[in-house]
Amino acid sequence: METELQSLIDEARTDLQSAADIQSIEQLRIAYLGRNGRITAILRRVGSLPPEERPKIGQLANAAKQQISQLIDQRTEALTKTKAAETPSPSLDISLPGKRTKLGHIHPLTATVNRVVDIFAHLGFDLMEGPEIESEYYNFISLNMPDSHPARDMQDTFYINDKTVLRTHTSPVQTRTMEQIEPPVRVVAVGKCYRRDADASHSPMFYQIEGFAVDVDITMADLKDTLVTFAHMFFNADVKTRLRTSYFPFTEPSAELDVECAICNGAGCRVCGHSGWSELLGCGMIHPKVFEHVGYDYEKFSGFAFGMGLDRVTMAKHSIDEIRLLYENDLRFLEQF
Ligand code: DAH
Repeated sequence: METELQSLIDEARTDLQSAADIQSIEQLRIAYLGRNGRITAILRRVGSLPPEERPKIGQLANAAKQQISQLIDQRTEALTKTKAAETPSPSLDISLPGKRTKLGHIHPLTATVNRVVDIFAHLGFDLMEGPEIESEYYNFISLNMPDSHPARDMQDTFYINDKTVLRTHTSPVQTRTMEQIEPPVRVVAVGKCYRRDADASHSPMFYQIEGFAVDVDITMADLKDTLVTFAHMFFNADVKTRLRTSYFPFTEPSAELDVECAICNGAGCRVCGHSGWSELLGCGMIHPKVFEHVGYDYEKFSGFAFGMGLDRVTMAKHSIDEIRLLYENDLRFLEQF
């Protein structure tokens, strides 16, 4: 029976070698180890052997059973591995078209903010911040707009209470900064502002940038050079500009800077009111009253300031004629930039 067992193992090994798939292996498992399998038949016969032979043959038969079972496992594992290597996994079907990830991009208004801040950083201006919920003092009084000053009418705002407003412009950052820093100072501040205004070119919330420079001997020539350089860098090197007189309570003299209308190139169109120019910003030489509020010596120092609406600049740059488009988050609009 010993030799019978040995040749059974050899036979099983050869059979398994030629088994090409899992089903054939299963059939072999049944043929050798199943209830009516060949090993089971031998084990059954152990009972009829002479008692002294039984333990030895029983052991051998069980060892053979184990060995065949191991051979089956090894062959199964080997077959599964080759199969896995031959079949490409479904996640690697290289014949499928790729999935394109849609990338977003910077909002046109944010792009303007970034570019404008970059340009002024290049011109030597530091960036400061101020609160959007502002005191009446900084928003109006410190900028030479005392209570009941008529200029307050142009900046009708949202009051939180009698003494607190949503800032109507970024100009309060001027006086806040001057209280903290002695001249020489060159600063820009960007942020949201609020007014009770809503039409095609006014939104109740909008963006401004404020800038100012204070030092000894700052003149209107510095103001003009800085702002014209900015316009050339932001629009293009040939854009025409003009400085016109204007009025702001916190500057004297005051002016406004216009650039040639980007839509009609100066010929005159509906958007520029047929003037050929579009208003870019307000500016001027800082009023002595403002210096008085912050404790700067106006005999010794002088400075210029400017304030620019960034929505308007974005609209001018991209020929957009409706401010609300900038805040509606409509992809049909935003995807054009
Ligand atoms: N704060 C003004 C406004 O919102 C804009 C402005 C004008 C700012 C002249 C200035 C300036 O600093 O000098 O209408």
